[in-house]
Amino acid sequence: MTFHGGPDGGPEPRHDFSSNANALGPNPVLLAAIRRADLSRYPDPNYGALREVLAAHHRVPAESVVPGSGASELIHRLVRVRAGAVLALGPTFGEYAHAARAAGVGYREARSREAFLRGLENAALAFLAQPNNPTGELFEAGFVQEAARRASRYGAWLVFDLAYAPLADVYVPVPEGAFRLFAPNKAHGLTGVRAGYLIAPSENLAARLTRAAPSWVIGAAEVAFLCAQAGVGARNWLQGTLPVLFAWRRRLAGLLRERGYAVQEGAANFIMARLGEDAAAFLRARGLRVRPLADKGLPDWARLSAQPPEALAALAAALKEH
Ligand SMILES: Cc1ncc(COP(=O)(O)O)c(C=O)c1O
Repeated sequence: MTFHGGPDGGPEPRHDFSSNANALGPNPVLLAAIRRADLSRYPDPNYGALREVLAAHHRVPAESVVPGSGASELIHRLVRVRAGAVLALGPTFGEYAHAARAAGVGYREARSREAFLRGLENAALAFLAQPNNPTGELFEAGFVQEAARRASRYGAWLVFDLAYAPLADVYVPVPEGAFRLFAPNKAHGLTGVRAGYLIAPSENLAARLTRAAPSWVIGAAEVAFLCAQAGVGARNWLQGTLPVLFAWRRRLAGLLRERGYAVQEGAANFIMARLGEDAAAFLRARGLRVRPLADKGLPDWARLSAQPPEALAALAAALKEH
């Protein structure tokens, strides 16, 4: 079991800072598209129309697009198909390690950029979350280009996990020749919709990954979601939410700094704060959920997403007693 933000088996909290989903969601344009989906039949097993839409959106050939049942499913599929040692740059998203364990292949988490670049020599598959979860760190163009150059030299598959790229407040560099993984459910506040997609650097690689999926890996609701999120209406809604989310993130960071906590603010809609080892349980008992980071080797730290003013007021009040 990997830890994620969101449901933890307990009663629903009053305010949830633990999930990185867009707090202004769900996107109404996408909800309407999902409701119009015809659930009475199987979707097209080749997802032809969906691939065309995504390909036009990203200006790539339709044959390089691989839909999947969420980015997590695609991460597991990549690891299974590549069937070799996995490298990541930690602390990072836990699903890379989980997928390696499930596939019975080695997993290494480099702890510096230099170690990551060196590690590419012995890796079959490498993941970089851009920006990273939980740090929010954005890797600059020079580093990602060097990673792509080395991956190509050593024959490693390099995957940029762009789950939070649409929620970043700066340009997100991604080099040519790498895999690009998209998880739009977070940006649109619809994490209950299990749909993502991958753009492979070649049609051959995309075909290998497509062959490894079960038939109808995503349903008609997911097809409707993925098609519509590429449309102007859905993207305009998302753009409109970003200034509000960044303002909320700045207020959250400011509040925690004022109270004397160390804060790391990254490029996306969440931050890390050094609240102390017992903070997550303390806050949970008061109806607030944050994401503890002990499983990532950061026992004092928690991840918190940008939330509306009433949630922030509740957090401030709870922390006064902490
Ligand atoms: C970096 C990163 N990639 C992928 C995912 C999973 O995305 P999905 O919901 O599409 O499986 C997450 C979810 O937390 C994430 O943080």
